[in-house]
Amino acid sequence: MQIEMITTHPYNDQNPGTSGLRKKVKVFQQPGYLENFVQSIFDSLEGFAGKSLVLGGDGRYFNRAAIQIIIKIAAANGFGELIIGQGGLLSTPAASHIIRKYHTFGGLVLSASHNPGGPEEDFGIKYNVGNGGPAPEKDTAAFYQRSQTINVYKTIAMDDIDLDNIGTQQIGDLKITIIDPVSDYAELMQSIFDFPLLKQSISSGYITLLFDAMHAITGPYATRILVEMLGAPAESVINAVPLEDFGGHHPDPNLAHAHELAHVMFSDHAPTFGAASDGDGDRNMITGRHIFVTPSDSLAIMAANARLIPAYAQGLSGVARSMPTSQAVDRVAASYNIPCFETPTGWKFFGNLLDAGKITLCGEESFGTGSNHVREKDGLWAVLFWLNLIAKRRQPVADIVHEHWQKFGRDIYCRHDYEAVETPIANAIVGHLRSQLPILPDQAFGEYTVKYADEFCYEDSVDGSISRNQGIRVGFTNGSRIVFRLSGTGTVGATLRIYIERFEPDVSRQDQDAQLALAELIELAEQFCEVKKRTGRDAPNVIT
Ligand code: G1P
Ligand code: ZN
Repeated sequence: MQIEMITTHPYNDQNPGTSGLRKKVKVFQQPGYLENFVQSIFDSLEGFAGKSLVLGGDGRYFNRAAIQIIIKIAAANGFGELIIGQGGLLSTPAASHIIRKYHTFGGLVLSASHNPGGPEEDFGIKYNVGNGGPAPEKDTAAFYQRSQTINVYKTIAMDDIDLDNIGTQQIGDLKITIIDPVSDYAELMQSIFDFPLLKQSISSGYITLLFDAMHAITGPYATRILVEMLGAPAESVINAVPLEDFGGHHPDPNLAHAHELAHVMFSDHAPTFGAASDGDGDRNMITGRHIFVTPSDSLAIMAANARLIPAYAQGLSGVARSMPTSQAVDRVAASYNIPCFETPTGWKFFGNLLDAGKITLCGEESFGTGSNHVREKDGLWAVLFWLNLIAKRRQPVADIVHEHWQKFGRDIYCRHDYEAVETPIANAIVGHLRSQLPILPDQAFGEYTVKYADEFCYEDSVDGSISRNQGIRVGFTNGSRIVFRLSGTGTVGATLRIYIERFEPDVSRQDQDAQLALAELIELAEQFCEVKKRTGRDAPNVIT
């Protein structure tokens, strides 16, 4: 293998966000752009000579081309083996599992998650470390730093690798193993959930289901597990074939984007259970007949019922949620007397807690839930968890949710997103919010009195690392909260996210519409941040 040293110039925008580097495909296609970033990652890591690296992506446009480029750079940098999903495909949770199962050095996952795909849309790349989780901030900071001075990358001249046939190829010192992207993951799911019970509940007709793969990576996974292994009819999985442009849609599992599923679930012929996942398979949306379960409630309900699932029958060591996620899971943790951690937004902050055995379950309001089985959030795992719960409790989704609210109270919750706000305006909004933090405490607004107003700062209880400026919080004496933060995953301008919640212990008032129940707090949020006034908009782009 002849290593070639290619001269390059740095790009100044390769700072990874909440979940890796995400940019328009056109940005990634600039000469040396992807190459620089991959070389910057390898330059920042130590001790991988001769070791293995997992490689795969969500199948979006540029996935295959990017994999061929990365294979050559990884070969030139001295990796000993590349484990690649057939067709270049691997869901994010499957990649995490494969890194862990085969004890590889790490992995590169190519995805921009729920962002749209295609030549004019988004691409992304993230590095996962040996525990299977996203690289921690100190690593991503090192990648960025290196990318600002890089002047050469290494590659080798060789033909493109056949990605479509399972098996092993030897190229010089490098072994390339193409694996079935699904089977290791399917086996893991079988070890966690009660597959015989699920099979029986499906074949008897007690559970009917609809899963929307949104033309993204979970199509092959859902077809294998739900249809082939658990016996659901083939038409239970819709939009099952991964497409490079996700059929022109956002592969984002929420009521707005998974509209085909939402339509069926609120119709007269709704099945017992409906769910969707995102571009790279780590997110989930859970619905039942005529009911949508908010991700924050889903996490709390999973925590409350975990002992019904074989893998968690011994109980949970603890739970964690990202700061803007509702406090519903905190109530479960308090009642079970287990620790509950509040972390900044982004899955990487759960890694240390999971590795240290301090938590078993964790989740985010952004349709992400997971456990210690991998080090990423996991869409199909959440789907199987709910199916197992329905089968075990012999109750429809709506009853499970309502019983939960009766017992623990309901944390009424919503998130408003203002997308593609001009960056200077977004920064001015944050500045304006910051300026109010010292004066807000003790002020009363109708029935809401501010208890605290601050910027969330997290100290990791395992390694002591500190992450500052993780979102602005305004907490009220009655437990309600408004949280403001700027997205770290967008690719155009800035996205302002506003998270709003209020606790409702009164059972007779729990069935309210969230937007109505939160109307006063939504008004207050505008009063504090002035996003409508400053952008001239009259409503958020997305409400979840
Ligand atoms: C968003 C979500 C966050 C999630 C991340 C990756 O990040 O809010 O919870 O971890 O996507 O899926 P954000 O755009 O808010 O930075
Ligand atoms: Zn995702």
